[in-house]
Amino acid sequence: MAQAAQTEFRQNIEMRYPRSASLRDGHKVSLRLMQPDDAETILGFARSLPNDDLLFLRRDVTQESAVAEWMREIESGRTFTVLGFDGDELLGEGDLHYNAADWTRHLGEIRLLLSPKARGRGLGRVLAEEIYAIAQQLQLQLLTARMVLDQAAAQTVFRRLGFQREAVLWDYVIDADGKTHDLLIATRRLQGPRAG
Ligand SMILES: CC(C)(COP(=O)(O)OP(=O)(O)OC[C@H]1O[C@@H](n2cnc3c(N)ncnc32)[C@H](O)[C@@H]1OP(=O)(O)O)[C@@H](O)C(=O)NCCC(=O)NCCS
Repeated sequence: MAQAAQTEFRQNIEMRYPRSASLRDGHKVSLRLMQPDDAETILGFARSLPNDDLLFLRRDVTQESAVAEWMREIESGRTFTVLGFDGDELLGEGDLHYNAADWTRHLGEIRLLLSPKARGRGLGRVLAEEIYAIAQQLQLQLLTARMVLDQAAAQTVFRRLGFQREAVLWDYVIDADGKTHDLLIATRRLQGPRAG
């Protein structure tokens, strides 16, 4: 992607925030993009989550080095992360990771991670729609989501969010105890072709 276009896309995305959104019960949450100085906040959030939620992420976000790498991706525009707050309390995050330079440049990968008490109230949908809007700004064509096949609830959630099952990679993931799990890839197509 040309540098000028990338800069323009990024500015448009930054202009979208801060904003607020309503959960299913009418409760308002505030949304903003994660900044490099949010490292402590995100570390505290990740460390408060149950281990099972962290097992299959792309990196171990309870570690400072992994969060530092995440922040570098934020700075370079390779990852956009939307944070959802109730007052000062971080309830969850949604992120879009993409690679502008290679043969997967039309793809974005979505990840959602909410604190247990914030689940089932519509924040997952709110964050997923933000990620969709960001992916549209970036003129991506396809959003992918990865989850292990045992995560039945996550599969239902993504289906409700308009994703369809694309592929299952058998025994593709191995956990800390050496047990393998099947990985499900779900996709959601975006409107409109990517330019360039
Ligand atoms: C998966 C996750 C992001 C969902 O967020 P959430 O806020 O609980 O989801 P929402 O309340 O917005 O629900 C989204 C849709 O899924 C449905 N849904 C939510 N939880 C569900 C469950 N446990 N079983 C079935 N359906 C469910 C909702 O009814 C909703 O559909 P609707 O809007 O059409 O009514 C959240 O539970 C989470 O962070 N889980 C741990 C991390 C994870 O598994 N991430 C997924 C891999 S990236």
